[in-house]
Amino acid sequence: MLPKTYRKVVAARFTNDFQEAAEIVEVPMPQPATNEILVRNRYAGVNATDVNISAGSYTPHAQPPLDLGAEAVGEVVAVGEDVTDLKVGDAVLTNSVGSGYREYQTIRAFRAAPVPEATPEVLSLGLSGATASIGLNVTGEMKNDETVLVTAAAGGTGQFAVQLAKLKGNHVIGTCSTDEKADLLHSLGCDRVINYRKEDLGTVLRVEYPHGVNLVYESVGRGMFDTAVDNLAIRGRLVIIGYITEYLSTPEVVTEPRLYFKLLGKSASIRSMFLPHFFKLVPEHLARLMEFYTSGTLQAAVDPTEFRGVEEVADAVAYLHSGQSQGKVVVRF
Ligand SMILES: NC(=O)c1ccc[n+]([C@@H]2O[C@H](COP(=O)([O-])OP(=O)(O)OC[C@H]3O[C@@H](n4cnc5c(N)ncnc54)[C@H](OP(=O)(O)O)[C@@H]3O)[C@@H](O)[C@H]2O)c1
Repeated sequence: MLPKTYRKVVAARFTNDFQEAAEIVEVPMPQPATNEILVRNRYAGVNATDVNISAGSYTPHAQPPLDLGAEAVGEVVAVGEDVTDLKVGDAVLTNSVGSGYREYQTIRAFRAAPVPEATPEVLSLGLSGATASIGLNVTGEMKNDETVLVTAAAGGTGQFAVQLAKLKGNHVIGTCSTDEKADLLHSLGCDRVINYRKEDLGTVLRVEYPHGVNLVYESVGRGMFDTAVDNLAIRGRLVIIGYITEYLSTPEVVTEPRLYFKLLGKSASIRSMFLPHFFKLVPEHLARLMEFYTSGTLQAAVDPTEFRGVEEVADAVAYLHSGQSQGKVVVRF
């Protein structure tokens, strides 16, 4: 028997101060429409970009309140009458703005990916894993026998970028900020781990990689981005995945010669990849990630810090933005 109401987290006002934006509301339990399923969320994924969503940046024409949380894994508890390929009890993964920070959600059945189980590890393969897979293979045109640099390498998406680049037969450099994260990266097979609080990234790249880096999976921004651009190899590709260092502040204004001075002489390029624009590719990449994971070829690290229920969502987002987390941060419902 389902409860009559459930709770979710909404942005009651648009600001990148997630705590300030977030409010918990209690709403009636919906019936799924004919083509929908009703899902009981078990885990929601926490993402750096939650603060951009709470600021309204992803939904320029929307007005608050806006449902928060971009992904969840859970169990189907009811299905609409036209739904034939999912049934009550199935585990599903959802990846869309508003689907995450809530105890229950209705979603069109075709937008939910069936998965073997509703665990945090499986959840991490969805948004974070698919971003790494598509970012490297599609946007980055990843090859083998190249040097690949992954920034925020011990994070939710970075951990998958490291492993996928290794699986393809590349030499992988990963950056992080603590010895504990460095240990995780070594265990994931990262060839050269750089704790940027102890070693200078630019110096390491110039001295140890004089021919430059062929492919960069860059999600930090500011100085990390600049250093990566400066150290691209001939025909090197840098994929912008994010710029977390600028999400909670006003953009840093830089005045220096335009990028073409740095790129053309090396035939190097800068590309960017934003997962919603590659939505159609997600099922194929997710299936491949799931295969790697179930066969033990791919690890999925989940941060051990426990966040429970809608009450602790804002703490979980603040924790991710503190820079301390390792692997995927999740909230349990
Ligand atoms: N393009 C897309 O569709 C897409 C999809 C998913 C994620 N992303 C992007 O990928 C990046 C990582 O996201 P995530 O959700 O997986 O987070 P995450 O990597 O799990 O956590 C963020 C990590 O970034 C590093 N960091 C560096 N400077 C930081 C700062 N000033 N404040 C906080 N953290 C800082 C920290 O690790 P160390 O400092 O130890 O390295 C921190 O642990 C973000 O830029 C995000 O927007 C993009």
